[in-house]
Amino acid sequence: MNLQNKTIWITGASSGIGEALAIELAKEKCSLILSARRKEELERVQKICLEYTTSCNIYTLDLSDIDSLDKAAEDVMNNFGPVQIMIHNGGISQRSAVAETNFSVDKRIMDVNFFSYVKLTKKILPSMIKNKEGHFVVISSVSGKFGFPLRSAYAASKHALHGFFDTLRFEEHANNIGVTIVCPGRIKTNISFHALEKDGKPHGKMDDGQEQGIAVDVCAKKIIRGVNNGKNEIYIGGKEILMVYIKRFFPGLFNWLVLKIKPT
Ligand SMILES: NC(=O)c1ccc[n+]([C@@H]2O[C@H](COP(=O)([O-])OP(=O)(O)OC[C@H]3O[C@@H](n4cnc5c(N)ncnc54)[C@H](OP(=O)(O)O)[C@@H]3O)[C@@H](O)[C@H]2O)c1
Repeated sequence: MNLQNKTIWITGASSGIGEALAIELAKEKCSLILSARRKEELERVQKICLEYTTSCNIYTLDLSDIDSLDKAAEDVMNNFGPVQIMIHNGGISQRSAVAETNFSVDKRIMDVNFFSYVKLTKKILPSMIKNKEGHFVVISSVSGKFGFPLRSAYAASKHALHGFFDTLRFEEHANNIGVTIVCPGRIKTNISFHALEKDGKPHGKMDDGQEQGIAVDVCAKKIIRGVNNGKNEIYIGGKEILMVYIKRFFPGLFNWLVLKIKPT
């Protein structure tokens, strides 16, 4: 899979990892469609991208409004041509314990982080199958590999992505459609500001761990390199990535360590 010159639709392109991916892919002369809710932020990113590539369009959408997404996908395909690469990136995190979290918060996180990806995928998959070409880049998390305090619905939504998109990779292998699942650790973005608390209010602050995360442009470059190298799954971050391997090979040590870490 080579991302150069491809038509790529990126959700969550108004900030953070999505924005950095858009800029790096613009440098690869890709034809981009940028989506998120905040139009003015998308226009800001679009302006930067157009310094590098000739085609960069925006389409505003709300991933929590699942019923609107069929039309969104139709509009994007009709207006901007078949999507060769879909980057499912838009998402929200969580900062609240199971015992005190309103169910509406669990539902919202599953809708934005999981069901919206499913809905958009089902809509664009037929054209990829017809063209015998396509690739899904799915931004999961290390929380897609293990549960962690204050992240119940977030971890659930990311685990669900692995089940769904690992299956899709097998099913569509013969049609030349691939899947790369990306598991970032801590990347320095505004994600903790927008993370939902128990009543659905935004957390509203930069957490210490987030502040110490790796730079977002480094993350974007690693994602692009991983996809170009045909990786099925990529881990990106600092020492927190070790936890994936500790859980796999030393589950007892993993449980002990998580209980020692102060969650933020
Ligand atoms: N930063 C990290 O440490 C980290 C670690 C692991 C995984 N991730 C994952 O990386 C992805 C990007 O996060 P980020 O760190 O770049 O955070 P971010 O800067 O907060 O970006 C989140 C993006 O998602 C969009 N979004 C949120 N809710 C949406 C909705 N209802 N409809 C449409 N778009 C929505 C936001 O756009 P609007 O607000 O304009 O809609 C924004 O563009 C997420 O899936 C996140 O889970 C991040």
